[in-house]
Amino acid sequence: MIVLGIETSCDETAAAVVSDNRDILSNIVFSQLDEHRPYGGVVPEIAARSHLDHIDGIVDRAMREADVDYRSLDGVAATGGPGLIGGVLVGMMTAKAVALVHKLPLIAVNHLEGHALTARLTDDIDFPYLLLLVSGGHCQLLSITGPGAYTRYGSTLDDAVGEAFDKTAKVLGLPYPGGPAVESAARLGNAGRFAFPRPMRGRAGCEFSFSGLKTAVARRVQVAELSPAFIADAAASFQAAVGEVLADRTLNAIRRFQSEETAPGTLVVAGGVAANEHLRSVLGTLAAAEGFQFIAPPPTLCTDNAAMIAWAGLERLRLGLVDGLDFAPRPRWPLDELRAAS
Ligand code: KG4
Ligand code: ZN
Repeated sequence: MIVLGIETSCDETAAAVVSDNRDILSNIVFSQLDEHRPYGGVVPEIAARSHLDHIDGIVDRAMREADVDYRSLDGVAATGGPGLIGGVLVGMMTAKAVALVHKLPLIAVNHLEGHALTARLTDDIDFPYLLLLVSGGHCQLLSITGPGAYTRYGSTLDDAVGEAFDKTAKVLGLPYPGGPAVESAARLGNAGRFAFPRPMRGRAGCEFSFSGLKTAVARRVQVAELSPAFIADAAASFQAAVGEVLADRTLNAIRRFQSEETAPGTLVVAGGVAANEHLRSVLGTLAAAEGFQFIAPPPTLCTDNAAMIAWAGLERLRLGLVDGLDFAPRPRWPLDELRAAS
């Protein structure tokens, strides 16, 4: 089986072709970063127009690089939400046109499920597993027993962790996007210099909170001179706090997973923030200490891409979970509201 995937929910216009033997035949990501950088964040209207300008060329490139023609496809998948609705519409319309013209099944993929199932594409792992999903818009712990079958253990009460990275970068005067900038500044910094708060640490459950941490960094910046050493130390101290919080919440999730599942434990980290080396290492150490297998997909498959959408589409197609051409894109679409195979 071969599926074309399309991703347009944020600021990457992406298309990929993936086969069910886990081969990524092509994976094209066009980043709109340069168009949004002057504004310090993604501007939805600019994103939607840019997707429209680029989508046809990107899909064409993905098909040519994969060296397949439309007749050899078994389905076409596109992100159906959640995300910036203008962009999602562009991707969905393109996928619907391909499906209609080439008489292919359409699969509307939840963007978060794309992140969630990536570890099965990269590492061929079995269900169930524990998932820490950390991206620009989301921060949650879930157990996953199959495509569409998610139990949410907890999520953030305020900011997503990627958002905290992006805002911290902004107050430190680091370039957009903030996550990679904070990570590279932190490499030279002293993580012990600032005792930033560790929100929720030590509490029962799997909820997160990051707004207090973000504010603490902003307050400290107000009374400091933004020297390179200060920026590096603040970035490192912030990142260390995030690592401790993620590890603390994930430990509670590991305990709950162990009490609910008999399968050997696997912890998967996914989403853009999972590209962060420090966080990967903290979570890897935690998993090892708890006897859990640890899977973190390669960084390019953690940040937004269409290979994950094609793969999630394949998984759903195999179960007959396809969508009609009347599928309406969903700006909000929680993972635990997905349709699973019965
Ligand atoms: O999954 P993603 O590409 O898009 C969303 O679906 O949100 O995640 C983007 C988020 C941004 O907040 C970005 O700053 C963060 O992931 N991010 C990182 C790193 N790379 C991307 N955060 C920390 N360290 C990184 N290396
Ligand atoms: Zn994402």
